[in-house]
Amino acid sequence: MNLPFPIAASTTPGFSGERRIKARFAGLLMIGAAAVLALPIPARASGLNGTWRMDEPKDSGVVLHTLIALRQDGARTEAIVMPDGAVEIPIRDVRADNGDLVFGIADWGWNFRVRPDGANLHILLSYDRGKTEVVRIAVPAAAADLQLPAAVPPPALRELPANGLAKTPPMGWNSWNHFGEAVDDKVVRETADAMVSSGMAAAGYTYVNIDDTWEMGRDARGEIVPNQKFPDMKALAGYVHGRGLKLGIYSSPGPVTCGGYEGSYGHEEQDAATYAAWGIDYLKYDWCSASRLYPETRLRAVYQRMGSALQACGRPIVYSLCEYGMGDVWKWGPAAGANLWRTTGDIQDNWDSMCANGFSQGRLARYAAPGHWNDPDMLEVGNGGMSPTEYRTHFSLWCMLAAPLMAGNDLRAMSEDTREILTNREAIAVDQDALGSQGSALSKRDGVEIWVKALSGGARAVAFFNRNAADRDVSLAWPDLGVASTPSAVRDLWRHADVAADGRGYSGRVPGHGVILLLVK
Ligand code: GLA
Repeated sequence: MNLPFPIAASTTPGFSGERRIKARFAGLLMIGAAAVLALPIPARASGLNGTWRMDEPKDSGVVLHTLIALRQDGARTEAIVMPDGAVEIPIRDVRADNGDLVFGIADWGWNFRVRPDGANLHILLSYDRGKTEVVRIAVPAAAADLQLPAAVPPPALRELPANGLAKTPPMGWNSWNHFGEAVDDKVVRETADAMVSSGMAAAGYTYVNIDDTWEMGRDARGEIVPNQKFPDMKALAGYVHGRGLKLGIYSSPGPVTCGGYEGSYGHEEQDAATYAAWGIDYLKYDWCSASRLYPETRLRAVYQRMGSALQACGRPIVYSLCEYGMGDVWKWGPAAGANLWRTTGDIQDNWDSMCANGFSQGRLARYAAPGHWNDPDMLEVGNGGMSPTEYRTHFSLWCMLAAPLMAGNDLRAMSEDTREILTNREAIAVDQDALGSQGSALSKRDGVEIWVKALSGGARAVAFFNRNAADRDVSLAWPDLGVASTPSAVRDLWRHADVAADGRGYSGRVPGHGVILLLVK
């Protein structure tokens, strides 16, 4: 992915690092927690002191605001950056260079080179692993820029009833992994068309989900207004529904989303009603700037607020929590009205990230059930960073995990390999099995993991994952699977062929980074 969008350029998975962010952006003052550097200050650098606002106007009409606070005291520099106003991030790797102050920010791929420019701050910002560089002028921040809204106390905890949705893991598409901020009305319509024409809809994919960057702001009545990329949300929902599909949207319980766009804070009921009026069927609700207002102990209550609002809005809306697994969300997600919850930081389109997100999930198996799913993040299949073999592994693992199957690629331009992986109905049947049981590892040895998922009717899905680069021979004796006698049928779900069931067990050869996925009856 090569988007000119800083979040996508993050060098580490998403917001998993947010838990480590303890610093508070305390108005004009740096309270001790900011990153501290003992370094000789360049002569002209005293002009850096202050809190600065760096604006980024977008084609969609939105202006994003990043706040940067800098203070120098003797030989120390303290600084904190709030990219797009979303989360507060300490700086790293601070140094003086040629009279400029140079630093990066933790967990994001942003790097700054700053120097005073009259009353302003001249900034050279580089991101996308240094591939993109822009010059920005930051101005002194006004008091209003630094003002946090008062933290409205979240509701008293109660157990919300199940909404009856997502009896099997939700299937669909989400714009973020491929499009980032480049999603617009046209992309969504064309994606809906492609979902139908590619055979994905027939294979079970239903939700067409718009992720972050659709929001503009609020009108005089406080109604959320989409930006220029989405001229008419209701008409768009009509179009998607007309294809027999459903439309999803994204917001945050904080004042702004992870990308710095308008969040639902203080407008939860109003936004739920708006979504219902537009014809929205799915909401992904992303924590980010809520961390500026609430400690982790209030996660459940804050998510419950939108859960209640959705249940009262008069339209069935799937509720997807995105808070990267903080606060053991799997333990209270259902009570907050959730149908699914992210359990990890953001997936990236590479083997290591996919493995980190997917293979760590076995411990959460008991929290998955019809209506309530662990979500190790959206699929990267078809985005180009992994081989077809690796994408087959990725897809098989998600199916074994009873994970939501949200394609994250460009459905309008899929290779035949990608289409075949995403529409493998035999693998999808494992994911969508009515029992709703999540698989877990039976054994892990020498980079080979054997995973088992119980299916309805006493069948089992068995996956042999080879995490090594080289091919490996694998075998499994039926008694180790808890099967007393020879199974009546064994089927290879990627070769789409029955396998002669041997009396003792199964053995085969798995390619490097590959998988054998079996249905054992
Ligand atoms: C966070 C989420 C991502 C995506 C972006 C959008 O990083 O974890 O899935 O929604 O925000 O800004």
